[in-house]
Amino acid sequence: MLLEVKSIEVHYQKVAALKGISLKVEGSEIVTLIGANGAGKSTTLRTISGLKRPSGGEIWFEGERIDRLGPHKIVQRGIAHVPEGRRVFPDLNVIENLYTGAYLRRDKDGIKRTLEEVFGHFPLLKERRKQRAKTLSGGEQQMLAMGRALMSNPRLLLMDEPSLGLSPIMVHEIAKIIREVNKRGVPLILVEQNAELALSLASYGYVLETGRIALEGEAKELHKNEHVRHAYLGA
Ligand SMILES: Nc1ncnc2c1ncn2[C@@H]1O[C@H](COP(=O)(O)OP(=O)(O)OP(=O)(O)O)[C@@H](O)[C@H]1O
Ligand SMILES: [Mg+2]
Repeated sequence: MLLEVKSIEVHYQKVAALKGISLKVEGSEIVTLIGANGAGKSTTLRTISGLKRPSGGEIWFEGERIDRLGPHKIVQRGIAHVPEGRRVFPDLNVIENLYTGAYLRRDKDGIKRTLEEVFGHFPLLKERRKQRAKTLSGGEQQMLAMGRALMSNPRLLLMDEPSLGLSPIMVHEIAKIIREVNKRGVPLILVEQNAELALSLASYGYVLETGRIALEGEAKELHKNEHVRHAYLGA
């Protein structure tokens, strides 16, 4: 088991945002969390990556309990998070942004190799490597945010709403890259409001409703499920 989240509870002040979420990532798969606005998708990712401390439950990664570790330690363990709204450093150029993703690494040669791999996934970033991040389009910034996360050489990648606000062509491009990155051996948890996209990429999925897992199963099965079709696929 790569990651196991066991009955985590999370509060913002006194308000419960997660009321006992359990999920697993077994191996090199793509797992998705789908759900409406405010269901708790981002909170789940933020809790896994140590940005939010759970008030109950446990999180285990590669046999180690990580729910008491701070965000830097969790990055060190191999979990990288691409946050909602793809926060890149606007005044740094593409290369500088990418290097910030490797800030905990000391293996200079390894970092160079990873950079070449990232450019392999995103040739566009290579072309624009001297360009400031704020001058990139939304889709290019999403690529940069993802590339930066890959620079830490993660063993698990958490992606929050990568398709949000992108044109259909860019969504298609990002989906292709997510698939490619996963094929190269990086497991992912993909959070999406675009359930159609998420279920087409993932092998397993969880449906979050107001801080609870309402439903889980093989992505193919969820795609056929009546409730999912009505509530999330606009059928
Ligand atoms: N910083 C915060 N302070 C207080 N409440 C918060 C905070 N962040 C999230 N919440 C609340 O926690 C709940 C879960 O929010 P979360 O952002 O995890 O949902 P989400 O599924 O990611 O939604 P969206 O699809 O809109 O991104 C919501 O009720 C939200 O209002
Ligand atoms: Mg969110």
